[in-house]
Amino acid sequence: MPRYVEGRMNTGYIPQSSGVSGPTFDLGAWRSEIPILDSYIPLNNCSHAPQTRATLAAAEEYLSSWNRDGMNWEVWMAEVEAARAAFARLINASPDEVAVTTSVSAATASIVSALDFTGSRNRIVASGAEFPTVGHVFLSHCKYGAEVEWVPVSEGIIDAAAFEPMIDEKTALVSACHAYYQNGFKLDIEAIGEIARGNGALMYVDAYQTLGTCPIDVKKLDVDLLSCGSQKYLMGVPGIAFLYVRDDLIESLQPAVTGWFGRQNPFVFEAQRLDWSSTARRFDTGTPPVFNAYVARAGMEIIESLGPAAIHEWTRALSTRLMAGGLERGLTVHGVQDVTKKTPSTAFVCTGDTHSVEVRLRAKGILSSARGPVIRLAPHFYNTLDEMDTALDALTDILQV
Ligand SMILES: Cc1ncc(COP(=O)(O)O)c(C=O)c1O
Repeated sequence: MPRYVEGRMNTGYIPQSSGVSGPTFDLGAWRSEIPILDSYIPLNNCSHAPQTRATLAAAEEYLSSWNRDGMNWEVWMAEVEAARAAFARLINASPDEVAVTTSVSAATASIVSALDFTGSRNRIVASGAEFPTVGHVFLSHCKYGAEVEWVPVSEGIIDAAAFEPMIDEKTALVSACHAYYQNGFKLDIEAIGEIARGNGALMYVDAYQTLGTCPIDVKKLDVDLLSCGSQKYLMGVPGIAFLYVRDDLIESLQPAVTGWFGRQNPFVFEAQRLDWSSTARRFDTGTPPVFNAYVARAGMEIIESLGPAAIHEWTRALSTRLMAGGLERGLTVHGVQDVTKKTPSTAFVCTGDTHSVEVRLRAKGILSSARGPVIRLAPHFYNTLDEMDTALDALTDILQV
């Protein structure tokens, strides 16, 4: 992997006329780590990041261990622990505050299954911007007494103040995604968390659309619970996700969604005794996703070595170019237009079948992601300003604006 270098690296990718400083990492060197750049411009990170040489090598490492050793649980479990630790470092948590799970859906289900909805504090207040899976898990707990209330999205955004009147002494859990999957709008988690805390409710954050694009410090954000999968901006694969549980909360939560890896010692094999790991490992369930852990760790190490702050700075420049260029070309941006309030993902409104726009963009060499009425262009650290222009020209051509 290319090494972090001090100073700005303008390796021919940043035209002097753009007035934009290049990233603080060697863009050319990093681009050479992503083979698909030879054939496509991947702008689909809000859905799935591209493969890198490092993640391919990690996948091959597992496959050759499997082939060579038959099984090697010691090494494989060490890889799972390494992935847990890499996630913990990215969010400034301890590995003991991190569970390894298989999806954000599974992480959410574990959390909600640990809550008691039989008393008067039985309400979940959720942002209307949650990814559907999160809402589905909440609604499935209505049969256990949960009541779910939604803070509405208005014109593609949600103001923290809109949470205030809905949260009270009946609220058990407040759930706010860090960013809206549809258009990249970032919710003010610190402000929402303060309202939750002030009312004695837990604060849960789905950070799948942000982690990997900007620094996230769970201690500074002061959230209780945070989940994120690997396949988007963390440069990994589907089938593995992580759940942060604040250390002083762990002992009070006993998830009904559980399994042998949630025990104090999974290897005592006592089916008739339900004890709990004293760490967030109590939210682990069955045999961990070993193969995926190899890839996830390699992906997270890329983010770590680039530095989330450096990625944040460069992707903001890309995002600014996308939004401004889109507006200049007559495209309509969905939701927020303030680059400081969004992820790298920019959503352009399309009339008609957005999936067919995605297919036509692919035919022009651009990977995008359709969601409802929008097409999302979601760059990451490896993209160039020129690629933003190329994608916008292609989209303008397809939409005939
Ligand atoms: C914000 C967000 N949360 C959750 C998910 C889905 O998570 P999973 O499939 O891991 O349950 C997605 C998209 O796939 C998402 O964008």
